[in-house]
Order: sequence, then structure tokens, then C-alpha cells
Amino acid sequence: MQDITILAIESSCDETAAAVVRNGRTVLSNVISSQIALHTLYGGVVPELASRKHIEKINQVIGQALEEADLTLDDMDAVAVTYGPGLVGALLVGVAEAKAIAYAKNLPLVGIHHIEGHICANYIEHPELEPPFLCLVVSGGHTHLVIVKDYGSFEILGRTYDDAAGEAFDKVARAIGLGYPGGPKIDRAAREGNPDAVFFPRAKIADHPYDFSFSGVKSAVLNYLNGERMKGREICQADIAASFQKAVVEVLVDHTMQAAQQTGIRSVAIAGGVASNTSLRQAMEEACARRRYSFYRPSPVYCTDNAAMIGAAAYYEYRNGTRHGWDLNAVPNLKLGERQPGIG
Ligand code: KG4
Ligand code: ZN
Repeated sequence: MQDITILAIESSCDETAAAVVRNGRTVLSNVISSQIALHTLYGGVVPELASRKHIEKINQVIGQALEEADLTLDDMDAVAVTYGPGLVGALLVGVAEAKAIAYAKNLPLVGIHHIEGHICANYIEHPELEPPFLCLVVSGGHTHLVIVKDYGSFEILGRTYDDAAGEAFDKVARAIGLGYPGGPKIDRAAREGNPDAVFFPRAKIADHPYDFSFSGVKSAVLNYLNGERMKGREICQADIAASFQKAVVEVLVDHTMQAAQQTGIRSVAIAGGVASNTSLRQAMEEACARRRYSFYRPSPVYCTDNAAMIGAAAYYEYRNGTRHGWDLNAVPNLKLGERQPGIG
């Protein structure tokens, strides 16, 4: 089959990213300009500032991606871009840029769902991975347990009722004084802490074994902190971080294993920013090894937001015939499996 080289753009939240990906699996370049330093000043992502920073950086990031791949726009077969879900202003920057390049260079335009991108990050380093497989997607905005039935075909088994897993990490980090970005800070602090120091609840939803709820564990941490403060006791950040992380990881692994057992799918993957969590990676790997399931996870750089994952997803969408028109728009609450008008 002829090689397909795709320029992919991602700007849905606080990373401006561009990548050049060949045949969905070979990353020729992957450039990420992070806005963490900017948003740290405010303790979280400020949407308006994120959009402005994307505008400032996007041309430079795309230029660098092409340069590192040692290619030009004339070598591209398509332009892919995340068009949802995410922050509307942030998404619009990438979508407008992708449309402009596709129009100027007469290239097909392929809009990509951000979560589909996260899932497809698993293809990059696992050439043997093919659907069907089960994927736990855990990011700052989403917690989904998904059956990847085929390329571009998904069945959502479970989702969160309230906070996403990453959101819970971020809120608890803020509450215990670790600050933004919370996930990586809890991960680091937890290494020095005792995961059995405090027992936090593991939420189960009656009759919905694959759904999640993280607001309870978050409230339990806040109540614990209040209680300790009222008693005039010092809190141990590391112990709380480790205990909270254990509660969340246990639920994530437990639900995923139940789903694998019930569906009979013996290949399990994880994806999204929280999939870079050391404890989750280890616990899921062990749980899969015990049951002799195959376990897949992207390297941390492909777990958090990046454009290489969008390029991976775009290859399979392109092959399936997905093409978008100049009316492609940002869709902040786009659902997985839902499509904007286009061909395919
Ligand atoms: O996928 P992602 O980069 O952006 C979204 O699509 O939301 O995920 C970001 C989320 C944040 O909530 C961040 O705190 C969390 O992923 N995260 C982590 C870790 N690294 C990032 N959570 C736990 N442990 C980590 N090491
Ligand atoms: Zn993401």
C-alpha cells in the first residue's frame, strides 16, 4: 500500500502541538509547546489565555514539526486536526489553521475526535496492536471505558457520572497544597507516602459496574483535611496523595478487569493524561499479567495531549474515507463516535 503522511494539529486545551505521522504508526516528528508555566500563575487553565497562546505558537510549532520530519507541506497527503471536545476558543485556532493549510495546499482535511486520538496513541509504539481491544481513557475531562471494535468504531461501556479522574487528581492536589498541574504532582508526592495511611471510599454505582464517580473520594479527602485542621493536626501531603491515588487506581483497575472478564476481550489498553500515572500503569500491568491479558500503554509523552496521537487516529479515519469540508467547526462537547457533517 502507498505511504500516507499526515500533518496533525492539536490545540484543544493547554498544549499547542503538531506532528508528522506516517501510516498511523510511525512518528516522524512530535512537537509540543506547553502552556503550563502560563496557567500555573492562575492555578488552572484560563481559556482565553490558552486561545491567545495557541495563536502565538501554532505556526512556529507546525514549522518545527515539518523541519524535524525533514519534509515540507508538499510531502503531506492530508491535514488532520482535533475539532472536539475541548475549549472552544482553543479548538478554533487549530481548526482554522488546518483549514487554511488544507485549502492553500489542496489537501484533504480530516477532523479528529480528541479521545479517539488518545486511544490511537497506543498504535504508535505497539505495531502488533489491532482492534478489538478494551481501552480505559482517563484524562482531565474524560473517564471512559471503551471497546475499540474496529478502527474508528467504538462502544462506550462506562463513563464517569461527575468528575473525570484527572479532574479529581487536580482538585485534590490543589486542596492539599500541591498546586497545578495536579496529576503529576500527586504521582510524585505519592512515591514518598503510605497508601494505607487513610482509607478513602471506592465508589461503586449499583447496576452500572463500568461507570465511575470520583466526586465522593474528592469530598472524602476534603472532609479529612477539614477534620485534621480542626483537631490542629499537621497533614502529611505524601500520605494523603498516596492514599487518594490508591483509591482511584483501585477503582480504575477493578472496573477495567471486570469489563475484560465480562466481554471476553483479552487485550487491554490505557490512554489519556492519567495513563501516565506510575501507580496506574503498574497496577494495570500486574492485573493484566495475573490474568494473562495483553497490556498496552503509550509512553507518557503520548498519554498527555500531543498531535502524534491525532496523526495516528487520522490515518485510520483517512483510510475509512473520512473527509471534512471548509465548514468544519470546533465542537466543544463532541461525543465519541459522533461526526460533523463531512464525507465518511
Ligand atoms: O489527556 P490530558 O493531557 O488532557 C485532557 O485531554 O484532559 O490529561 C490531563 C490530565 C490532568 O488532569 C492531569 O492532572 C492528569 O491528566 N495527569 C496525571 C498525570 N499526568 C497528567 N494524573 C495522574 N498522574 C499523572 N502522572
Ligand atoms: Zn487529552
